[in-house]
Formats: sequence, structure tokens, C-alpha cells
Amino acid sequence: MALRKILTADEPALHKVCRPVTKFDSKLHTLLDDMAETVVEACGVGLAAPQVGILRRVVVIDTGEEIVELINPEIVETSGEQDGMEGCLSVPGEYWLVKRPNYAKVRAQDRDGEWFEMEGEELIARCICHECDHLDGHIYTEIAYRKLTDEEIEALQSGQEEA
Ligand code: NI
Repeated sequence: MALRKILTADEPALHKVCRPVTKFDSKLHTLLDDMAETVVEACGVGLAAPQVGILRRVVVIDTGEEIVELINPEIVETSGEQDGMEGCLSVPGEYWLVKRPNYAKVRAQDRDGEWFEMEGEELIARCICHECDHLDGHIYTEIAYRKLTDEEIEALQSGQEEA
């Protein structure tokens, strides 16, 4: 496993629509292993492949209990609403307020190509939506409605993570 360099939002790779994964081979497995190590090292909740310069539909999410690998994810159900702060490893040092569904269910393939479903509420739902947006070239600040001030960040920073 190796750490990958996390690109910032000024890089073109963060604004492209990613291609589906078609080969579930050792190259994909290495990417997934590297993304898992990279998101843990960066204290992030999630990481999408374009953030490390790979324009494929691959996401990892650290639920706190395990790293879930989502290949070719499609959000199949959302409900409710949450309104809160969000960050992104590709937009370091900034937090913005974003409205998201409070619940999301995603259908995805695992590293061997088997389809499965993952669902979550609150932070996990927020992360699923945030990471899937990355695969279509979207950064969360596009839909955020207000940037937090430095004072607000200081007040909230204990325990917050970036996606
Ligand atoms: Ni992000």
C-alpha cells in the first residue's frame, strides 16, 4: 500500500466525469488499498478516485467501523434533509454549510465486481452524496450556501472530519 497525493480543487481532474470501472483486477485492488490508506492518513471520511488523479468511478468511505469500497456507485434512494457543515480533502481548511438528504442508499460493486447495497444516515448519507458528486466532476462548494468563518471553524473543529 502507498499514500496517494490528494489533488486540490484547482486541478482539472476534479472537474471531469469519471468513467465506469470495467476491470476488477489487481490494478483496481492496489488503487483501493492506496485510497484506504490515504483517507485514513488524512483523517477523512471519504475519498473519490479523481481526488488522487484517477478518473474512474471508485469511492472509499470510512464508516468508523470499516472502510467500504464503492465501485460504480449509484444512489438509488434518498430521503429527509440535513443541514450542516461539510469539508473536502481537496478543499483544505474550508468548511461550508450544505443541505443534503438525511438518508441515502447506494448500489455499488465491490472489488470483485459483485453488486451490493449500502445505506446510511447523517454523516454517512452526507458522505455518500459528496463522494458520488466527485465522480461527476462536482465539488461540494458548488451547492454549499455559506462558508464558515474562522471563528465558527475554531468553535466546531473538535471531532470534525473532512470528506
Ligand atoms: Ni471531497
